[in-house]
Amino acid sequence: MTHFLDIDKTDAAALRGMIDSARAMKTARGGRPKGTRDDAQPLAGRMVALIFEKPSTRTRVSFDVGVRQMGGETMVLSGKEMQLGHGETIADTARVLSRYVDLIMIRTFEEATLLEMAEHATVPVINGLTNRTHPCQIMADVMTYEEHRGPIAGKKVVWAGDGNNVCASWLHGAGQFGFDFTFTGPPTLDPEPEFIRYARDKGRRVTVERDPVLAVQGADLVVTDTWVSMHDPESARERRHNQLRPYQVTEALMAQTKPDALFMHCLPAHRNDEVTSAVMDGPHSVVFDEAENRLHAQKAVMRWCLGL
Ligand code: CP
Repeated sequence: MTHFLDIDKTDAAALRGMIDSARAMKTARGGRPKGTRDDAQPLAGRMVALIFEKPSTRTRVSFDVGVRQMGGETMVLSGKEMQLGHGETIADTARVLSRYVDLIMIRTFEEATLLEMAEHATVPVINGLTNRTHPCQIMADVMTYEEHRGPIAGKKVVWAGDGNNVCASWLHGAGQFGFDFTFTGPPTLDPEPEFIRYARDKGRRVTVERDPVLAVQGADLVVTDTWVSMHDPESARERRHNQLRPYQVTEALMAQTKPDALFMHCLPAHRNDEVTSAVMDGPHSVVFDEAENRLHAQKAVMRWCLGL
């Protein structure tokens, strides 16, 4: 079974193939209206289940549109409305869904839920975000960087802020796509050591630098994310804002990077918290290309999972 569970669990050549496929599909559409189908219809006759146990705008819409462009059909399911939220095991849910659909995408809280779904499903399962990682986002982000600046291998990527699930997948990306990675944030919000170890074991230079101005020297790309993730307790909001304020991405901080550095944010952004509006809307920013590329990258991920 070809699941897409994480960047580190997927062969590097396969990841590269998916980025190439995504770019080819994007080019082939040639900017035609979003609701029109692709010329190729690899998902014709296929049904895809999109399960959400957490809110989503980009993941939900981009997967749904992507399936339809490739000729397939979707059903969007909320975890709360399924028996999943009322005592049925993940394993049984996986076995049942596998009798109805050809592919499952799940956004959930615990990684264990994703892994149990994948273990018991007899169709491919895609990780649409867990508390631990967000691999589809990094596929879109690598695609976006390379569209604008060419190969990401050997570049310096700086993450400013909370070492959260998206940061973790960036560290997996460093290992698999061959770029260096600097984390800048408060010590209490460092990425888990296993992710840093993974990238280092793959031969990548990974640096933790508490001073954001020093961190972004020579950066090719600066990335940030919300200071309070969906799984963080609301009670932590004020403390996190106080801790993370020095790591806000501002025009002054971007002025310390390479002149052609890009700025990325997976969105949703909280303008003037983790990033100023001037940076979001400024010349370094490619945040809306990133959002668009979720569509193209995930189409490639789905085709890879289904061997199409
Ligand atoms: N970046 C991202 O996954 O966006 P959504 O939470 O809106 O899906």
